[in-house]
Amino acid sequence: MKELIEQLKTQVENAEIKNTTDLEQFRIKYLGSKGEIKNLFNDFKNVPNDQKKEIGQQLNQLRMATEDKFTLLKEQLESSDESAGSLDFSRSGESFPLGSHHPISLVRAEIIEIFSRIGYTVSEGPEIEDDWHNFSALNFPPEHPARDMQDTFFIEKGENEMALRTHTSSVQVRVMENQQPPIRTISPGRVYRNEAISARAHCFFHQVEGLYIDKNVSFADLKQTLLYFAQELFGEKAQIRLRPSYFPFTEPSAEVDVSCSICNSAGCNVCKYTGWLEILGCGMVDPNVLEASGIDSTVYSGFAFGMGIERITQLKYKVNDLRLYSENDIRFLNQFKSAL
Ligand code: DAH
Repeated sequence: MKELIEQLKTQVENAEIKNTTDLEQFRIKYLGSKGEIKNLFNDFKNVPNDQKKEIGQQLNQLRMATEDKFTLLKEQLESSDESAGSLDFSRSGESFPLGSHHPISLVRAEIIEIFSRIGYTVSEGPEIEDDWHNFSALNFPPEHPARDMQDTFFIEKGENEMALRTHTSSVQVRVMENQQPPIRTISPGRVYRNEAISARAHCFFHQVEGLYIDKNVSFADLKQTLLYFAQELFGEKAQIRLRPSYFPFTEPSAEVDVSCSICNSAGCNVCKYTGWLEILGCGMVDPNVLEASGIDSTVYSGFAFGMGIERITQLKYKVNDLRLYSENDIRFLNQFKSAL
């Protein structure tokens, strides 16, 4: 018996185990319920009493050594198993989900880029505005319908009237109050109107205001600037046309259409078969506005324009429901992943 134990001990010590199959065979052979060690334990009853103590100890040592070897090898094999986290530096990295730029941010960035190439700075103003900057300084008559409760979200009525700005034209007043010409700036930002939410109207949206004030600025400068902008944004074939219009803060005023890039002006349901799409309002800054902001209208003239970012985005990306922009639907947003 003693010899058998010794033999097994050396066998166990020398057993070569390279993988989990070897290990399982090792376990069955030595530690299994019909394994070598179990057999020895079964034979133990035949050991003469005076040797029982010594042989019993040896047998227990053998069993413990075998079990230890088994546990150690098991741990080693598991930790070298790939799925259990060994480091393989040649493996490609795990990709993790990336966000995307919001289409409104993409188009705002593009508009800023286009105007910054011809020397425009970016200026911003507050979204909560007083009556002066949003209306009065912009030559809105006291009874103008745009001041109506229906269009404007008022925060405070009365003498210290405060409201959510209804357009980014308020920023031109702030810029002119703080800066003397030459001024060349665009003001992107969020605006608010008290409208029922639908596919075509929303209670908040985004605009970019443009302002150029200097000596001898003409309507031709305005037209050329807008043509440059339209061609940078929609491609060099883009054409613009100006239609006479009215805004309190510009004189003369115009609305600008761009040739429909969806049907190449052939006529489609987006341009309502006219071949033209309205994109912005503009005009020569009314002398009253210049004076109200502290600029001498006998020396300086200038033009201004204002456009809705959602409108431009709708044309660029063919999104025809305004509500999609603020619903945070990942399925919608994911489509803009490759857009920058
Ligand atoms: N503020 C106008 C609006 O919200 C847009 C606009 C029109 C801005 C003409 C201008 C302008 O600067 O000259 O509808």
